[in-house]
Amino acid sequence: MERRDHESVFTRSLQDPEGFWGEAAEAVHWYKKWDKVLDDSNKPFYRWFAGGEVNTCYNALDLHVENGRANQPALVYDSPVTETTKTFTYRELRDEVAAFAGALAAQGVSKGDRVIVYMPMVPGAVVAMLACARLGAVHSVVFGGFAANELAVRIDDAKPKVIVSASCGIEVNRVIPYKPLLDEAIDLAKNKPEKCIILQRPMEPAELTPGRDLDWDEAMRAATPHDCVPVLATDPLYILYTSGTTGEPKGVVRDNGGHIVALKWTMKNIYGVEPGEVYWAASDVGWVVGHSYIVYAPLFNGNTTVLYEGKPVGTPNAGAFWRVISEHKVSVMFTAPTAFRAIKKEDPDGEFIKKYDLSTFRLLFLAGERSDPDTLQWAEHHLGVPVIDHWWQTETGWSICANCLGIEQLPVKHGSPTRPVPGMDVRVVDADNREVKTGDIGALVIKLPLPPGTFPTLWNADDRFIESYLAEFPGYYKTADAGYIDEDGYVYVMSRTDDIINVAGHRLSTGGMEEVLAAHPDVAECAVIGVGDELKGQLPLGFLVLKAGVDRDHANIAQETVNMVRQKIGPVAAFKTATVVKRLPKTRSGKILRGTMQKIADGQEYKMPATIDDPAILDEIAVALKGVGYAKGT
Ligand code: COA
Ligand code: AMP
Repeated sequence: MERRDHESVFTRSLQDPEGFWGEAAEAVHWYKKWDKVLDDSNKPFYRWFAGGEVNTCYNALDLHVENGRANQPALVYDSPVTETTKTFTYRELRDEVAAFAGALAAQGVSKGDRVIVYMPMVPGAVVAMLACARLGAVHSVVFGGFAANELAVRIDDAKPKVIVSASCGIEVNRVIPYKPLLDEAIDLAKNKPEKCIILQRPMEPAELTPGRDLDWDEAMRAATPHDCVPVLATDPLYILYTSGTTGEPKGVVRDNGGHIVALKWTMKNIYGVEPGEVYWAASDVGWVVGHSYIVYAPLFNGNTTVLYEGKPVGTPNAGAFWRVISEHKVSVMFTAPTAFRAIKKEDPDGEFIKKYDLSTFRLLFLAGERSDPDTLQWAEHHLGVPVIDHWWQTETGWSICANCLGIEQLPVKHGSPTRPVPGMDVRVVDADNREVKTGDIGALVIKLPLPPGTFPTLWNADDRFIESYLAEFPGYYKTADAGYIDEDGYVYVMSRTDDIINVAGHRLSTGGMEEVLAAHPDVAECAVIGVGDELKGQLPLGFLVLKAGVDRDHANIAQETVNMVRQKIGPVAAFKTATVVKRLPKTRSGKILRGTMQKIADGQEYKMPATIDDPAILDEIAVALKGVGYAKGT
């Protein structure tokens, strides 16, 4: 009998990837089986299940309707902000999706066309994604907290035929009109979509633009249900934009076949979830966690997935998560540590937890940012279930390191997301691409090929894909995280090696924010760094050097830059503080010493950089930081 300990499953996945993933692929419905499990004829572009034909929506819905789950709940929509709960069985969701696929097809959407989905956390967002998959169209979901400008950049890159949106979203008790943002984005974009389909919400219906906008309900009424369209396993399922080192986001592509195989496999092997159980990822469909674990993986596996339109606190209180778990009998939950920090702050003794029946609840998974041991232990103590930190990225689509509970539960070491999962050959290398000694810090990289369901390329940017991820460490995928591996093979993820910061589990580019600040007419030079924050992990902080002769009030200028970031990038950037300084600390070659500034801001010890141009500047920086509440203890 095959051994099911982590070590042997992991070893087999690397020694015989084709056998390993070929077996996993037997659990998937194929119209035509693959010619080759792993096509490596065009390295470094690897293709999984080349020649195979599948449909993602069929595997998510129709297969279960046909195999006895027609009346099982597929999706539970729980929205404290609208006081609504609605359940869709697999049959009902399949029918909604087939109808919406028909509505999209009626607007000329077919295989390969792009559709942008800019929606709040409503069932329509899931329906729109699955309807695209049904047609073989490529969806690109844009998170609602981004501003019009960010949406416009994505429209220009993806060139969608249709945009699906809603009239508004709801943030705790504030209605956010989406339609004006959509209109502004379309105005800004060079590539206009032919049509928009707008879901009208009663809290703030939108005015529709005649000739361009269609009402969701009317489009659904007029639609003829559409069947699943077979696509190649290697055809794109979606594009998900994520922050890069500049303001220009990267369009991560996910394919169809490898994605179904890998995600279905993870449900049982990583999350230890059986079909029929209720699984809840408290994230947003705009992020990768939402794509993989609100929508696709739980449905591939025949689970009931929860779509939660609310927050961990404030909707209405710090007991919101426990209410959802008890009301919908959730077995396994997945969220970001920041959500738990928010709950812990409001309910340090876990009083709300005691008020709910959590008897169905078995496991909590955390990801999206480093899990600080305090928060993790608080959750373990108050919930009495295993709390599993796991590490992954938008690019990888599923976890790189995790405690694979469906294979073998390994001992937890706080501060580590455990060991690499099957398929992920994680190494730590130095700047010369040589593996470092056990315990030494270096760049965390993954030996190619990456497993299925990960990262074939960037949308229309093969060169940028190579340049950003594969060129620096030949033979490896660069995660852009730094860390080390200990003597037991446990991985520790310490920090990013680029200028990405992580704010409340949301990934943001400080370079992108600097581009916005630099556009202020009074700003000559600027820098943005991520400073530590108890709740959100990190927060962005801006430094502004003004042009000679500018004598306006500094506070006003700083506030204007704050407004600009909100306007250009969006509220999700959480850019609230900027300070004016006379000059920025730099090396003699002119590189801004952002790392040193961050250490001063966080009150950490720092070494005087040997190459610093003028050490006195660091004192000026410390004074400015104290003025905005940072650099305590320096
Ligand atoms: N549409 C419009 N605005 C949005 C938005 C959306 N979909 N999502 C967030 N925003 C706004 C918020 O209202 C807030 O605006 P404000 O500056 O006017 O207050 C701003 O963007 C920042 O949002 P956020 O970082 O979410 O902060 P918050 O204070 O509203 O909530 C947490 C903090 C910790 C409760 C929240 O971030 C959270 O629940 N995070 C954990 C789950 C998660 O989403 N993880 C992502 C990856 S797994
Ligand atoms: P995103 O692409 O938005 O999912 O962000 C990915 C980044 O978040 C990673 O590169 C890490 O920097 C960070 N991250 C995600 N999960 C973890 C984790 N479990 N531990 C440490 N960092 C994490």
